[in-house]
Amino acid sequence: MLVVVVFCALVSQVTPAVTPASQQMVQNWDRHACALLVCAPAEKGMPGRDGRDGLQGPKGDMGAQGLQGPRGIAGPPGTLGPPGPPGEKGCQGETGPKGDVGEIGPRGVRGLQGPPGSVGPAGKQGSSGPPGEKGAKGEIGPKGAPGAPGPQGKTGASGPKGDQGSVGEKGQKGDMGARGLQGATGAQGPVGKTGIPGAKGDKGSIGEKGTKGDSGLSEVNLMSKKVSALEGQLATLQATVSKFQKVATFPGGRIVGNKVFVTSGYEGTFDDLKQRCLQAGGQLATPKNADENAAVQEIVVLHKKSVFLGITDIQTEGKFKYLNGDAIVYSNWHPGEPNNDKGNENCVEVYVTGKWNDRSCGEKRLILCEF
Ligand code: GLC
Ligand code: CA
Repeated sequence: MLVVVVFCALVSQVTPAVTPASQQMVQNWDRHACALLVCAPAEKGMPGRDGRDGLQGPKGDMGAQGLQGPRGIAGPPGTLGPPGPPGEKGCQGETGPKGDVGEIGPRGVRGLQGPPGSVGPAGKQGSSGPPGEKGAKGEIGPKGAPGAPGPQGKTGASGPKGDQGSVGEKGQKGDMGARGLQGATGAQGPVGKTGIPGAKGDKGSIGEKGTKGDSGLSEVNLMSKKVSALEGQLATLQATVSKFQKVATFPGGRIVGNKVFVTSGYEGTFDDLKQRCLQAGGQLATPKNADENAAVQEIVVLHKKSVFLGITDIQTEGKFKYLNGDAIVYSNWHPGEPNNDKGNENCVEVYVTGKWNDRSCGEKRLILCEF
């Protein structure tokens, strides 16, 4: 029994290096071996020794391909691609309409001060300056060189030639020299600070003449031109009217105010004449005052023929009315008229005297229309 315990321990010590699966097998075998050894009768001899290691078996067949794994999570978006090539240049647009002439703008602000000019030429030599102030007394100068021999003295009882004298005191400062030449112009200085804006400039000159506008005239000028044009047209119209008045009154026509009496010389019964005047755009003469009646009389005298007026009492005997049904407002009856002679006089004729007489409408008279 002691041997069995030791053996089992040995088996356990050799198992750590093997795989978990094989280790499980060994452990199982270990338990089986222990059980075998425990259950084996001790009287049948010692246990056999371990069997030899078998050869390694052939490599097993490759297993079947596993199931396809689940689809992976979509990767992050790729980096932004490079910009595409620029598109083709578009067609040039049509030239826009010419803009209105703009107002002249205010004068601009004063510009910056310009840089100093280039170096000018050397100036002329200045005139001599005023004499300088008297300088301070100078120090005693160094010993001067020997002076030139003096003039020959007068003959006389001059004494012997004396020793050389000592150096004299420094003389006074001389006058100021002439003014030197003007120096060369200095280098260009830095640009100055921006000046304050200048005063508003003068009004600019008149710009170029602009393109012709829709109308350069004001409303008044426009109306004035129209009036002038109408006056011209009116004068022409008046001349034309005057001309046609002469035509209308030649030879048997008359104009009274706005009314024109005209005859064509035709003679007919009342109904015939009435219809003809209407057809011409007028009506039978209907004098409504003395002047108009006088004009009718002149035509009657001129043609020596009576005319029928646009007046009747057809509707009601004795009540003379105009053709539109209105009662007459003026009359110039011959004495005793209207008498409705023979009971059949419903129309009105005009004598050369201008007087009126009621007469049968069936008679024929000179046509006289008014317009
Ligand atoms: C006379 C009468 C006048 C009448 C006419 C008819 O002239 O005076 O009233 O109409 O005759 O013929
Ligand atoms: Ca009569």
